[in-house]
Amino acid sequence: MSFFSRIISRKPEKAPAPMKKMPGPRENPGLRIAQDGARTAVWAVGGGKGGVGKSFVAANAGVSLSMRGKRVLIVDADLGAANAHTLLGADNTRSTLSNFLKSEETDIRPYVSKTDIANLDLVSGARDSLTVADQRPDSVARLKSALHNSGYEYAILDIGPGTSANNLDLFLMAGAGVLVTTPEPTSIENTYRFLKCLFLRRIRNISNSQDDSRLRDALNRVFSGPWAHRIKTVSDILMRLKELDPERGELLKALMGDTTVSIVVNQAKKPSDASTGPSMKRACKDYFGIEIGFIGDIWFEEFAAESVRMRKPLVMTHGNSHASKAIAGCVERLLGEENRLKTGKALNFSR
Ligand SMILES: Nc1ncnc2c1ncn2[C@@H]1O[C@H](COP(=O)(O)OP(=O)(O)O)[C@@H](O)[C@H]1O
Ligand SMILES: [Mg+2]
Repeated sequence: MSFFSRIISRKPEKAPAPMKKMPGPRENPGLRIAQDGARTAVWAVGGGKGGVGKSFVAANAGVSLSMRGKRVLIVDADLGAANAHTLLGADNTRSTLSNFLKSEETDIRPYVSKTDIANLDLVSGARDSLTVADQRPDSVARLKSALHNSGYEYAILDIGPGTSANNLDLFLMAGAGVLVTTPEPTSIENTYRFLKCLFLRRIRNISNSQDDSRLRDALNRVFSGPWAHRIKTVSDILMRLKELDPERGELLKALMGDTTVSIVVNQAKKPSDASTGPSMKRACKDYFGIEIGFIGDIWFEEFAAESVRMRKPLVMTHGNSHASKAIAGCVERLLGEENRLKTGKALNFSR
């Protein structure tokens, strides 16, 4: 059984329901963010590898947004190794995300803790010990709806490492997904793996949620036909599906267009690292047929560790550092795309 078919044919769940000057990204990031102005826009920060700076980017991007006067909720969704509360210096956190996920609640507000940072609150993961088995099947869908109705302008999810179904669903829940990588080959490798799993998971979720037996049958045929071993990319899947059932092929392609991903390259150390983002963007298009955005490089910053020790985000302790400015630049790009792409499609499947 191929890698693709293994993922697609999993049993359907009931669920969801200075280089001081690093050149900025030249191409536009591919993002499409929540359409309804009244709803909270959800951003997810994730990635395939631990220690690359996901929590650091999520916390600092959240504070950067709050400094622009936006009301922000950070959600610590790294259920195994939560540390957003430490990065934000929030000591007296109340209930946690796992309490929400284990409950039948539809309102996230009782689980929110205040922080000392203006305009910024937290759903902590401190002392969480949630296993996937504890979760209700509807928990991600319920969280999504609760965040949209939370009353904040932005909710930023800090997601744990790895390609577990739960992490992928949390990432897919967001209107804008940001993948953090470093320029190191191991991190890049894990980022590609994450992307591959993410889009297959998306196809599977679409297939399960459509209640459309023709779509499911056509997808099964894509993976069981004599050509199955030749299917290497998401574009291959769409192409083959279109041949088998043009209408369903178009439908899946349109639904996939709602999925939006950008990458940020963190802990860049030398000028040549600046080519990582653009070349990953190109590689995604060439090998997966997926158009992703690139929102910038964040320089390795010696004060980052100090800011963590001080339990204060870098954008507050060292607002003029290159990394802080780069994070503000990434936020700016996400906001810019939010305006530009309100009516557009973010993801294009080429080839
Ligand atoms: N741009 C950066 N420069 C220097 N250190 C960084 C940078 N980004 C993150 N770090 C450091 O890397 C460590 C791991 O970051 P963290 O956000 O906890 O990773 P993750 O959430 O991906 O596991 C943190 O201690 C942080 O200080
Ligand atoms: Mg983390």
